[in-house]
Amino acid sequence: MTPADVPMAEEVSDLAFHEVDRWTHRAGRPAPERRTPQRSETWIRRTARFLDTDPGGCWVAVDESGVVGFATSIVRERVWVLATFAVRPGQQGRGIGRAVLEPALAYGAACDRGLLSASEDPRALHRYHAAGFALYPQLFFRGEVDRSRLPSIGGLRAGQADDLAWMDDLDRALRGGPHGPDHSALSDMARLVVARDRSGYAYTTGSETYVVAASTPEVGTRLLWECLAGAEGVFEVSHVTTANQWAVEVAMNARLAMSTDGFLAVRGMDPPAPYVHNGALL
Ligand SMILES: CC(C)(COP(=O)(O)OP(=O)(O)OC[C@H]1O[C@@H](n2cnc3c(N)ncnc32)[C@H](O)[C@@H]1OP(=O)(O)O)[C@@H](O)C(=O)NCCC(=O)NCCS
Repeated sequence: MTPADVPMAEEVSDLAFHEVDRWTHRAGRPAPERRTPQRSETWIRRTARFLDTDPGGCWVAVDESGVVGFATSIVRERVWVLATFAVRPGQQGRGIGRAVLEPALAYGAACDRGLLSASEDPRALHRYHAAGFALYPQLFFRGEVDRSRLPSIGGLRAGQADDLAWMDDLDRALRGGPHGPDHSALSDMARLVVARDRSGYAYTTGSETYVVAASTPEVGTRLLWECLAGAEGVFEVSHVTTANQWAVEVAMNARLAMSTDGFLAVRGMDPPAPYVHNGALL
């Protein structure tokens, strides 16, 4: 992939994920929509950064019309992370996905761990299983936070640049690698909250959590309540694995509605805990 391919890859990913969202749409969830221009821009910026940090992890398939499929992946010390993988609707199921995933997997060959968040597309799940990944269902919570249930939360403050070093150590312990250069993408999208005693952190917005990383379930619980306290209307907590029952407890206590959505795929490790991963940066 080159920088010139990124806008077309964005279009392929928007179309491919919109199609999956339409097939997997469930009653009670908002109708699937194409990405907003603002989200497309964020996607493009994030992917352009991968080309700076991990050019060998990002691959495209092209024909005379341009980009028809791509895979973007990053290596963060021991862990290989697949950020996005998509083939243009109408051209799926013909081996293009396999062709772009293979070199991305080869980029991570020296990593003993792998992580990715999968859609419910059976072709994607087949590809990940064939690559040796174990698949764990992800829980998804959505709704208006019942503010009468918010506990008083202590020991947290806004995060700042000099927190990143200990946060990276925590990520090494939880998932085998730091977020490192990915903190700038996360802080582009979300605010950072940290535990004063450096036992955990969360990236969150008024509408969703991006990452919650903690040294104990008790710290994760406090951080997640803080995310929920910042809700401005409907709030979503996605990517909760069943290894993180503390997060289930918080979301259920806040009266969010629970369902399942996609899978966490792991190789060489168990699902991280206490940890709620990000969909692309894991
Ligand atoms: C997932 C995706 C990138 C795969 O690309 P692709 O070009 O369609 O995939 P390929 O043709 O290379 O491989 C599909 C594999 O799934 C298998 N497959 C097809 N339909 C299947 C089904 N219903 N159940 C299980 N396996 C299936 C095929 O046999 C093939 O495996 P094989 O090569 O071992 O025979 C593409 O389908 C896509 O863009 N999907 C929508 C976006 C998405 O969900 N991306 C993944 C994000 S995690």
